[in-house]
Amino acid sequence: MASRVHHSMQNSLWFLSSSRFYSTIQSQRVHSRNQKYFCKKLIPTSSFSKGVRYCSCNATTSNIDANVSHSNAEAFVLTTPLYYVNAPPHMGSAYTTIAADAIARFQRLLMKKVILITGTDEHGEKIASAAAANGSSPREHCDSISQAYKLLWRDLDIAYDKFIRTTDSKHEALVKEFYSKVLANGDIYRADYEGLYCVNCEEYKDEKELLENNCCPMHLKPCVRRKEDNYFFALSKYQKRLEDTLTEIPDFVQPSFRLNEVQGWVKSGLRDFSISRASVDWGIAVPNDDKQTIYVWFDALLGYISALLDDKEQPNLESAISSGWPASLHLIGKDILRFHAVYWPAMLMSAGLSLPKMVFGHGFLTKDGLKMGKSLGNTLEPTDLVHRFGSDAVRYFFLKEVEFGSDGDYSEDRFINIINAHLANTIGNLLNRTLGLLKKNCQSTLAIDSAIAAEGNALKDTVEKLVEKARQHYENLELSAACEAVLEIGNAGNVFIDGQAPWSLFKKGGSAFETAAKDLVIALEALRIIAIALYPITPRLCLKIYTQLGYSEDQFNAVTWNDTKWGGLKRGQVMAQPNPVFCRIELETEANNAGVSTKKASKKTNKMPKTQKAVEA
Ligand code: MSP
Repeated sequence: MASRVHHSMQNSLWFLSSSRFYSTIQSQRVHSRNQKYFCKKLIPTSSFSKGVRYCSCNATTSNIDANVSHSNAEAFVLTTPLYYVNAPPHMGSAYTTIAADAIARFQRLLMKKVILITGTDEHGEKIASAAAANGSSPREHCDSISQAYKLLWRDLDIAYDKFIRTTDSKHEALVKEFYSKVLANGDIYRADYEGLYCVNCEEYKDEKELLENNCCPMHLKPCVRRKEDNYFFALSKYQKRLEDTLTEIPDFVQPSFRLNEVQGWVKSGLRDFSISRASVDWGIAVPNDDKQTIYVWFDALLGYISALLDDKEQPNLESAISSGWPASLHLIGKDILRFHAVYWPAMLMSAGLSLPKMVFGHGFLTKDGLKMGKSLGNTLEPTDLVHRFGSDAVRYFFLKEVEFGSDGDYSEDRFINIINAHLANTIGNLLNRTLGLLKKNCQSTLAIDSAIAAEGNALKDTVEKLVEKARQHYENLELSAACEAVLEIGNAGNVFIDGQAPWSLFKKGGSAFETAAKDLVIALEALRIIAIALYPITPRLCLKIYTQLGYSEDQFNAVTWNDTKWGGLKRGQVMAQPNPVFCRIELETEANNAGVSTKKASKKTNKMPKTQKAVEA
């Protein structure tokens, strides 16, 4: 097996926090991560184009090459938005980060050097007001909400590499340097501005876009009239270059239907925008004018670059850029597309820096058809969902059930039905019943190599086609379709086992017995492949499947996408004791609690999930 290297800052969080419900497997995992990841030191090379070298201080982790040369020398740098810290995270904020983590994990399986960047956007009027409303200083407020994001990312198994806070001093230094470059390029001037401002969007609005009483269509709150003497960025200068970029690099904005929207904005004429605020103290001071602070968006977008700096490095653009810019992919929600696909590229052009390769604008998680959000107060608590159902269930549901790019509604009934059907039944139960039969009839030991067992067998061809389909879907950021392809492997495995009925063949003995033993190997090999192909979506579950198949956690951590090739399981491999890897989520009704036997309740008020039993096998 080749090595998949993952050096993630997130790992340190596993130590800092006390685990609430993690099982023994979890503690083994922490131990192993400690051994494996903390002992590795990245030896920086002058640029990623030279490849990345690692030194392993632990000579016993034999399955990791001491010197890893990534198959693709260029780093795959992807970013989530930097989240506002006006309020704690909700499921809508978690959605982009879960998707980003799945994409990052897939890219690591391809043996790419990956840098997953996330962080918090901490300046501006909205944050200062939220802090004041809480009775805290902006700094204390930001520290506490930023930490809440980190804890949520831990709970959701988000393995990020960089967490940038826009209040970090290295970020501040970079923003000032960037501002000075744009100024030197003649793209900043001073002028008066009067308009309607939405504090929640942190944006002046075009009156044509507003609803009755000048309400913002996104936040349904009235915009306020403001008049300010500000510094402006000459966006209009970049109209032609932006138009050309959008035509020449059509993949720059994805999904493709969002490109039309962006082209429409640009064609309708770009207006210069104000990049400073005289009325806001909580921000980075404008160089040479401490009466104004830099507009929060002009500040925050640069977090994608400052995040690349190591803390010990000189905080300047040159060092940051050489550490991985341009980003391969910005993942964002569709509401902030204009900032990322129009303002940001123009800012980068002005400073003479490369553009990110792609901006992907996903849809909204909605509740009763309305965007779930802090401003509307109709949010879903991700921590609560994780504690009730486990991180795999949350990750799987939102990535499988919401087509990436479109909107999707949440309902608890649908959540439970999907998770039970796909993870507990199709995958979990296939594994459990196959291992049960193997234990009973073959002492949990494989009788034959999976490659030989599958000769002339149609299931192998089906699995090979489906896994290739999954790979292509992951590459195209079609996460739901990737899940579907993997699930189809599980369906095919179940159809195969049901059709072959090995339980009767074992009873017949002789050659029928041998066929049954072979069939179990085929089904288990399909499950091994599922465990790799679904790993980007449900990493915990996949580790459990792999260890049930008799592999160690280190072996699982070393797996790459190449290992989805048929033939990994070999004769003589001993499986672990069959233990359900994913139990059904059972809901208790109040009547049930009172000792009356009933079926599942369908009203939320009556539901009380048996969390532990349901989630942890
Ligand atoms: N701070 C800016 C981003 C700056 S990036 C340099 C911001 N922050 S935010 O916290 O308001 O939103 C962050 C992301 O969460 C956005 O991409 C937004 O689309 C996403 N979501 C917030 N609510 C959402 C849903 N209900 N559904 C899906 N994503 C949503 O904007």
